Amino acid sequence: NRPYHLLAIETSCDETSVAVVRNGGEVLSNIVSSQIDTHRRFGGVVPEIASRKHVESITVILEEAVEAAGVTLEEIDAIAVTQGPGLVGALLVGVVAAKSLSLALDVPLIGTHHIAGHIYANRLVGEIEYPALALVVSGGHTELVLLEAEGSFRIIGQTRDDAVGEAYDKVARALSLPYPGGPHIDRLAQAAESAIELPRAWLEPDSFDFSFSGLKSAVLAEINRANMKGLGVEAGALARGFQESVIDVVTTKAMRAAAEFGARQLLLCGGVAANRGLRERLAALCAEAGLPLLVPPLALCTDNAAMIAAAADLKWRRGEFATLDLKAEPQLSL
Ligand code: KG4
Ligand code: ZN
Repeated sequence: NRPYHLLAIETSCDETSVAVVRNGGEVLSNIVSSQIDTHRRFGGVVPEIASRKHVESITVILEEAVEAAGVTLEEIDAIAVTQGPGLVGALLVGVVAAKSLSLALDVPLIGTHHIAGHIYANRLVGEIEYPALALVVSGGHTELVLLEAEGSFRIIGQTRDDAVGEAYDKVARALSLPYPGGPHIDRLAQAAESAIELPRAWLEPDSFDFSFSGLKSAVLAEINRANMKGLGVEAGALARGFQESVIDVVTTKAMRAAAEFGARQLLLCGGVAANRGLRERLAALCAEAGLPLLVPPLALCTDNAAMIAAAADLKWRRGEFATLDLKAEPQLSL
């Protein structure tokens, strides 16, 4: 069998990324151009600037990814692209580039869901066994997704307010840490000797939903209290208290869901899966429960195009292609 190559494009938020993946699992290149430095001074992603930056970078990143992969454009067998969800202007840049390439190279086009990408990043780590339970924790999403079979997604719980990454970023901002704050809070929390006890939002006893806005408010209240008393804010102890609350809730609910739905595997994914404390706790709980855990390496946790190729590969195998009227869908559901 001749090897096949998927070229994938991801532009849903503030990363312009292109990857070339051989035979569905071998990542030949995965170029990620982050706009973080541009957005940092605004304390978050500015949609209008994001689209403009994607336009500036997309062709350069495309060329770079093809060259780094050591393939020619003639060897590309299909173009995959993140169709949604995400920022509409940002998604459009990737979708237009993908359609142009598909047309110019006369190869099929495959539309991919961003979260399916995060989940199937785990295909690049190991074989997925169904039913599997995915804990998706990113800047825009916090979900427990049951995969009863390949390509089937059932959301059994989700956040009712902030996404985990969003809460991390807001808390970091309140502590005057740079954007995105997740890695900074993670580092502070690891180094702290003590933790300030913060609330945990368990919600209804049988619920797999999440809520992080109360926790975020509790952190802000602690900061205000310290400021009013003219005391310094104990950033480390606060970061650790915040992180412990988050990790307690997400790992407890994930383990309970895995048991209830008979999952044979737990898949961790999304930008917050880069969190060291979360990875360690989940690894320990899974080992204790005898539940196999897959976690992508750091570079495949945050937004990247290789994960989009990994998800698109399942559609490639089934011959599930899109037509040229594929649209960017900011609210696309799984
Ligand atoms: O998946 P991602 O790259 O983009 C979205 O699709 O949202 O996730 C980005 C999020 C940001 O909120 C960032 O602060 C968070 O992931 N993040 C972390 C860590 N690294 C990135 N959160 C906690 N600990 C980390 N080490
Ligand atoms: Zn993402």
